[in-house]
Amino acid sequence: MAVTRRILVVGSGGREHALGRALARSPSAAEVIVAPGNPGCAETAEGHAVLRRAPLTSPTPSAIAAAARAARADLVVVGPEAPLCAGAVDALATDGIAAFGPSRAAAALEGSKVFLKRFAERHKIPTAAFLATSDFAEAERYIRGRDRHVVVKADGLCAGKGVVVPSSADEACAAAHAMLVERRFGEAGATIVVEDRLAGVELSVHAICDGERLFVLPVARDHKRVGDGDRGPNTGGMGAVAPVAVDAALTERIATRVLAPTLAGMRQEGRPFRGVLFAGLMVDAAGEPWLLEHNVRFGDPETQALLALCDGDLAELLAGAARGALDASAVRVVPGRCSVALVLASRGYPERPETGAAIEGLEAAAAVPETTVLHAGTADEDGRIVTSGGRVLTVTSTAESPAEARARAYRAAECIRFEGMHYRRDIGAEWQTPAH
Ligand code: AMP
Ligand code: GLY
Repeated sequence: MAVTRRILVVGSGGREHALGRALARSPSAAEVIVAPGNPGCAETAEGHAVLRRAPLTSPTPSAIAAAARAARADLVVVGPEAPLCAGAVDALATDGIAAFGPSRAAAALEGSKVFLKRFAERHKIPTAAFLATSDFAEAERYIRGRDRHVVVKADGLCAGKGVVVPSSADEACAAAHAMLVERRFGEAGATIVVEDRLAGVELSVHAICDGERLFVLPVARDHKRVGDGDRGPNTGGMGAVAPVAVDAALTERIATRVLAPTLAGMRQEGRPFRGVLFAGLMVDAAGEPWLLEHNVRFGDPETQALLALCDGDLAELLAGAARGALDASAVRVVPGRCSVALVLASRGYPERPETGAAIEGLEAAAAVPETTVLHAGTADEDGRIVTSGGRVLTVTSTAESPAEARARAYRAAECIRFEGMHYRRDIGAEWQTPAH
């Protein structure tokens, strides 16, 4: 590979640490800079390239473009949804810098739930029946008139907190009231979607897209609730496993009913989608996939689990997608490999995470075979690593069997200690396969 790329990764979570490491292992990469990154991205030689951090005080499109110029980056990979929805890729394009990620117009798939639902309707993508409204009285009438459970969603981005899965019509009305009348999420909740609650098995499907073509990564499963057995409040994700065994018929349905019509529809509507399309699906008892949501960026912690399954040249894959010439042969999914990504969280997460606790045992954990300890909410205080956020670390282990990958991840987690640390005990316990 002749190209030697300088790549800027924007973000600071476990997802960005995983992306930074995988990009630095790419033969076409010379230097990978994660901004603002986390202590895990501190200067190391990672395979082919140097991995290091650079400051980024606020991830606005103009600050990202300035950081890319300062780094002399020839490829930018934007991790989180907020800068994508704010137009980071458009700002980079103005400066002539290639970026992996959707334009602002294409990021509406995640940035507006109303856009997503109407888009799905226009393109006959299976999704739950819904009402989009800004009027509380209309929302209440709809909720009370439905003979089944509903889900209430704020239209705009709410840092993962804008979806309420109520257990009664009263609770659903209260959620709609909080959004539309009390304006709990400000403008992001000025319009809401009320949709039928779907039952089944939830899957995360990531496809790398160049506007026309796509490369589908193995199917992953996230565990969003904070507690074992899917109890307690929703979080950003407490653990992920991949690959989930999905039979050929379901794989085909996901591709032809959800992914392909999304890509074709976006192209038709003049918003070609480049970047990672991350479909959150519910597979019902008949094996039919229903679209819950599209995200326009990599999942966290799905990405930690997925990248552990891949080898080859991720930088080449993403650079190709960014310029509209995807080369799916750049990356290989290693056959027969399984991975478990286990999130270690701070006491109080997700409501009010405590921070500032000293972390011990990182080296012992990383010495477990085929295991990587990825940082997220950590800070370096004079050489001491302490907690600085809710999701602190993602321990990611691979093996040839799900059971061994899980055993390694838990063995590594047991090496790590910090005051108030908690994690789920059941990640990877059941490598659930949807009905078909
Ligand atoms: P989102 O923030 O859109 O990913 O939604 C958060 C979570 O809410 C999803 O991962 C699902 O677990 C759940 N959810 C969203 N929409 C529905 C639905 N229509 N039926 C059942 N659960 C849903
Ligand atoms: N883990 C789910 C997400 O990244 O949205």
